[in-house]
Amino acid sequence: MASRMCDSVLVTGSNRGIGLELVRQLVDSPSSPLQIFAGCRDPNGPRAQELQELAQKHRHVITVVQLDTTSLAGIADASKLVEAKLNGRGLNLIINNAGVNIPGSLAETGKREMVDVFTTNVVGPMLIAKNFHPLLCKAAAQFPHQTSMSSSRSAVVNVSTLLSSITRCPENFSISPMYPYRVSKAALNMLTCCLAEDFKKDGILVMSLHPGWVQTEMGGPQAPLATAESVSGMMKVITSLTEKDSGTLLDWEGKNIPW
Ligand SMILES: NC(=O)c1ccc[n+]([C@@H]2O[C@H](COP(=O)([O-])OP(=O)(O)OC[C@H]3O[C@@H](n4cnc5c(N)ncnc54)[C@H](OP(=O)(O)O)[C@@H]3O)[C@@H](O)[C@H]2O)c1
Repeated sequence: MASRMCDSVLVTGSNRGIGLELVRQLVDSPSSPLQIFAGCRDPNGPRAQELQELAQKHRHVITVVQLDTTSLAGIADASKLVEAKLNGRGLNLIINNAGVNIPGSLAETGKREMVDVFTTNVVGPMLIAKNFHPLLCKAAAQFPHQTSMSSSRSAVVNVSTLLSSITRCPENFSISPMYPYRVSKAALNMLTCCLAEDFKKDGILVMSLHPGWVQTEMGGPQAPLATAESVSGMMKVITSLTEKDSGTLLDWEGKNIPW
């Protein structure tokens, strides 16, 4: 039997797109975690139906957690619920997947677009890491004889994008200008670096992961990758993360992307 990828995981924005596929592949995996917390901002709404059906089918493993990543009170409530469900154990892995994109030219981009996208793509993952930090520390401490870092021990994966890369901007800017999205994801990468440094002492790995260009509502139908293919690659990368990957930006095939 395959060894478990980790005991517990929280995925944000898991009612559709890459997040839903992550929950699906996590629960279907032979090394499935014991507990999967599926964060979703409107668990009783029509857009959460597929997730609810999946959770119903795997009710001993999946817990749907109401989690709007822009709500401080919501994050605090979700961390309390997850803590209670963990019953004294820590949380091994957080996948900060929830994200938004408001595309448009510079002329179409104003303060509201910049602030709204920043709030979801940067402030949300920061507040989640901060609020769940005690649970991540508890998970890392459950491996007293292990000094190395891994996703099975304790980790935060921030779902970023190739479009966050400042180095690669000159070659892909004209295809997708997307000011709020690019700027916010570059800031998310800095959050990754700060958290990786800060959490090193606690044994918590932190990295940014680009899923590829994927067929979702955000990626659009012309994207070359199906969600299943992207997520299967992401899962391989996440399970094989080691200390040297903390504070880096990798793609779904495990290749390094320059900042
Ligand atoms: N698709 C791509 O080609 C691509 C490429 C690079 C990176 N990414 C990144 O991959 C991640 C997932 O993208 P996707 O393609 O799956 O996008 P998607 O199909 O648009 O799904 C986005 C998910 O995020 C959730 N979400 C948005 N704001 C939220 C909030 N405040 N609180 C909680 N959940 C929230 C959405 O929930 P609702 O249903 O409630 O809106 C939805 O579940 C994002 O971080 C995105 O930037 C995607």
